[in-house]
Amino acid sequence: MPEFSQPFSGNKCERKLDKNELIRAVRFSIASEFEAIQLYEQLRDSTEDENAKKLLTEVAGDEKEHVGNFLRLLKELCPDEKDFYKDGWEEASEVMGLKD
Ligand SMILES: [Fe+2]
Repeated sequence: MPEFSQPFSGNKCERKLDKNELIRAVRFSIASEFEAIQLYEQLRDSTEDENAKKLLTEVAGDEKEHVGNFLRLLKELCPDEKDFYKDGWEEASEVMGLKD
């Protein structure tokens, strides 16, 4: 989604990001990928044009892969964070009575 109010939109940062800034930028990127998925699937579900439906489905799938790309990077940048996700995953599985 275009977000031209962001200081980096269309420009590089005048200095290099420190590690915490990079972690926040990666989290923001993950959220942006989810937003893109929402947009493309909403558009797909709102049209009857078959070519558009096919392309939007394909592109939404690409965005889901990008979520995985950024999650992998986040794990490298912030290795302890995966324990929170694992705890949340296991808690939800327990609440829903699922094994995994
Ligand atoms: Fe993407």
